[in-house]
Amino acid sequence: MILVTGPTGCIGRAVVDRLTSSGHAVRLLWHWGHEHRVPRRVSVFGGDVRNMNTLVDAMEGVETVVHLASIRREAGADRYEDVNVSGTRNVVEAVKHAKVPRLITVGCLGAEARSAFPFLRSMGKAEEIVRASGLNFTVLKSAVVFGEGDWLTAWLESISRNVPFVMPLPHRGDTKLQPIWVGDLAACVERCLTTRSTFRQVVPLGGPQSLMLSDVAALTLKITQRKRRFVRVPSSLTHQIAGFLSRFRGALTETEIEALSYNRTTEIGSVHRVFGFAPARMPTKLDYLRPDYQPPPLPVQF
Ligand SMILES: NC(=O)c1ccc[n+]([C@@H]2O[C@H](COP(=O)([O-])OP(=O)(O)OC[C@H]3O[C@@H](n4cnc5c(N)ncnc54)[C@H](OP(=O)(O)O)[C@@H]3O)[C@@H](O)[C@H]2O)c1
Repeated sequence: MILVTGPTGCIGRAVVDRLTSSGHAVRLLWHWGHEHRVPRRVSVFGGDVRNMNTLVDAMEGVETVVHLASIRREAGADRYEDVNVSGTRNVVEAVKHAKVPRLITVGCLGAEARSAFPFLRSMGKAEEIVRASGLNFTVLKSAVVFGEGDWLTAWLESISRNVPFVMPLPHRGDTKLQPIWVGDLAACVERCLTTRSTFRQVVPLGGPQSLMLSDVAALTLKITQRKRRFVRVPSSLTHQIAGFLSRFRGALTETEIEALSYNRTTEIGSVHRVFGFAPARMPTKLDYLRPDYQPPPLPVQF
């Protein structure tokens, strides 16, 4: 039995699909109070990573925990320190308590406990907690992810839909990214179950191309069949422009501006070296942005 925390997120949905399609028994930690359609063919435990009791109950009889629950923006009672840091500490403690033999998490390239950026700092602290746990862990330290429900292409698509004629690009659009398709990341999570070289390791991962933000924006415009002139906003003005754009749906949050403020790439070929398959190039997996896109029926319905 594999327990997945954060199963309704962009990565969580792909991981649950991948695991159930391969015949694994899957249990989900379903965030309390949040309304999503419950998938079929999985068992569901309501809970919250801030609540130890729910974690301990959900881990009974589990062989692997895939921990993906986190927040990308602070709102109300949801603070990075509580969800991303203490939540991960709780997951580690519950894994120990329930004697679960394996823990897999997805971290972020650029996340460090001493980062100046609050979100990345919290993810860096979470990673340190997992590394110091003494458990048989793997942290897949991932580049930015793209696929249905991601934040990056959703933002670019939304800005191009809502802002006429121009597309403002934070940090001049020069930030280097290495987008990895969510389906490939999910395949890596599954392969961690059996790939011994990932045991007790932090594994940096990225897609097969290093692309600048402006390249990703151009791909998004091409697939959505929109023409926009790039306005390359210098870093010194990025926050002001983001404030202006916040009146449009899908505006960038502080966290996302953080995520675009410095290059976040790793070895090209990391997926192939560690997991033995070639990840998809970005232009081949952007169908979900086409105006006439019909999502395929999923083996797991959300
Ligand atoms: N997306 C990327 O580009 C990327 C890149 C590298 C690493 N990562 C990391 O990979 C992990 C998964 O990313 P994602 O993009 O799938 O995230 P996401 O779309 O933001 O989803 C987060 C998930 O966590 C759940 N959650 C939030 N607060 C919770 C709580 N207190 N208790 C239990 N569950 C809670 C959410 O459920 P509700 O929606 O119901 O609250 C949702 O299922 C995160 O740790 C993220 O930092 C993401």
